[in-house]
Amino acid sequence: MAPSLSSSSFFTLALSFHFLSLLPTTTSLTNLGVTYFTPVTMPKPPPQDHIPAAVSSLGLTAIRILSPDPALTRAFTYTNTTLILTIPNLFVPPIAANRSNALRWLYIHVVPFYPRAKIAAISVGNDFLSASPPGALSSASLLLPAIRNIHLALRDLGIRRISVSTSFSFVNLVTTAFPPSSAEFRPPVSETLIKPLLQFLRDTNSSFLINIFPYNVYRLNAEIPIGFALFQKHSFNFRDDLVTGVRYRNLFDMMVDAAISAMAVAGYENIPVVVAETGWPSSGGEASEVDANPAYAEMYLKGLVAHLRSGVGTPLRKEGVAEAYIYELFDDEDQAMSRPKRNWGILHPNMTKKYKIDFSGSLRTGEGYALVRVGLIFLVFALLHLLSF
Ligand SMILES: *[C@@H]1O[C@H](CO)[C@@H](O)[C@H](O)[C@H]1NC(C)=O
Ligand SMILES: *[C@@H]1O[C@H](CO)[C@@H](O)[C@H](O)[C@H]1NC(C)=O
Ligand SMILES: *[C@@H]1O[C@H](CO)[C@@H](O)[C@H](O)[C@H]1NC(C)=O
Ligand SMILES: *[C@@H]1O[C@H](CO)[C@@H](O)[C@H](O)[C@H]1NC(C)=O
Repeated sequence: MAPSLSSSSFFTLALSFHFLSLLPTTTSLTNLGVTYFTPVTMPKPPPQDHIPAAVSSLGLTAIRILSPDPALTRAFTYTNTTLILTIPNLFVPPIAANRSNALRWLYIHVVPFYPRAKIAAISVGNDFLSASPPGALSSASLLLPAIRNIHLALRDLGIRRISVSTSFSFVNLVTTAFPPSSAEFRPPVSETLIKPLLQFLRDTNSSFLINIFPYNVYRLNAEIPIGFALFQKHSFNFRDDLVTGVRYRNLFDMMVDAAISAMAVAGYENIPVVVAETGWPSSGGEASEVDANPAYAEMYLKGLVAHLRSGVGTPLRKEGVAEAYIYELFDDEDQAMSRPKRNWGILHPNMTKKYKIDFSGSLRTGEGYALVRVGLIFLVFALLHLLSF
C-alpha cells in the first residue's frame, strides 16, 4: 500500500512542478534593455541626467552604453538599471598592448561609480571584427589580449563581479541563419578568435554578445515572408529545420538558434547569449527600403517584447536569451558609425515615446495569474500529501 501512495504523491508533486514550470516566472525572463549612443547630430541632445528616468519610464531595466561618458555613468548611480559599458573600438589596440591602459580606462569609467552604478559587464569593442580593416587575423589578435587585460585589470582592482566580453554582428560572424542547425562561425576567426574567446567566457561565467537584426537578413533573402520577420502569428508563418525537426515561427529565434548551433559546433554549448542589439528601423536610408516604416517597427518591437516576456525561449534554448537590448534609445545616434542613415530610435528627441509599447510587458490578461493559482493549488495538495506520510 505504502509504495502506491508515495508514488501517487510523487505524481502530484511532479504534476505541480509541471504546472509551476508553465508559470510566467519573472526570474527566468529575459532582462530587457536599450542601447544608447551619445547623439552627435541632434541639435539639442537630451541632457544626460535625464536618460535614467527615460529608460525606467519605458519599463526597461538595462542599458548598453556604446560611448561611455563618466557623467552619464554617474547619472545611473543609485538606480536599479544595470549597465553594459562598451569600450569604443578605437581603444582596443592600446588596451591590448598594455594592461596599464586597461587600468587607466577603468579608473575613468568604472572605479568612481562602482558599485553604486550597477555596472554588470564591459564589452571590449562593438562589432570590432567588421569595424577593423579586412585581414581579420590581425584584428582577432588584438581583441583577446584586450579582453584579458580588462579582466586582469578588474582583478587588480579587486572587482570580480563585472564580466568582460565583446560583441559581434550576426551577419558577419555566422555562416547562415537557415537551417539554424547548419550554422557555423565563419573561418578563419572561428579558430583564431571565437574558440579561445568562448573558452574565456566559460572560464569567467560571461556571456556571448551578438547583434541580431532580422531586418538585415530579411532584406538579403527575398523568400522570407515579412510576417515571419515581424513575429506575426499565422498558420503558414513557419520554417522547419529538417535536421533537428524543429519548427520556427519567427526569424529572431532562427537567428538566435543559428548562433547557438555555431557555438555547439565549436564545442561550447551552454554559454549564455545576450542579444546586444536588435530592432527595426522606422525609416530607411534608401527609397527602396519600404519595409523600414513606423508600422513595421512597432510590430517588430511589440512582437519581440511579447516573445521575450512569454518566457518560452527558443527551440534550442528553453531559457531563451539572457538579455536583449533594443537598438536604440534615440534616432540619429549612429552617425559616427558608418551605417546607412536609418532611424531605429524608440524615443523622439524631445523624449516622448515613438511607439505605444509597454516594454515592461506586465501581464494584462488574467491568464498568467490563473496559471499561478492552479500551480499553487497543486503545490499545496502535494505538500499535504507529503506531510501526511
Ligand atoms: C531599486 O530596487 C529596490 C528593491 O526592489 C527598491 O527598494 C528601490 O526603491 C529601487 N530604487 C529605485 C531608484 O528605483
Ligand atoms: C605600459 O605602460 C606603462 C605606463 O605608460 C609603461 O611604464 C610600461 O613600460 C608599458 N609596458 C609595456 C610592456 O609597454
Ligand atoms: C562561475 O559560476 C559558478 C556557479 O555559479 C561558480 O561556482 C564559479 O566560481 C564561477 N566562476 C567564476 C570564475 O566566477
Ligand atoms: C515630440 O516630438 C514629436 C516628433 O517630432 C512630436 O510629434 C510631438 O508632438 C512632440 N511632443 C512634445 C510634447 O513636444
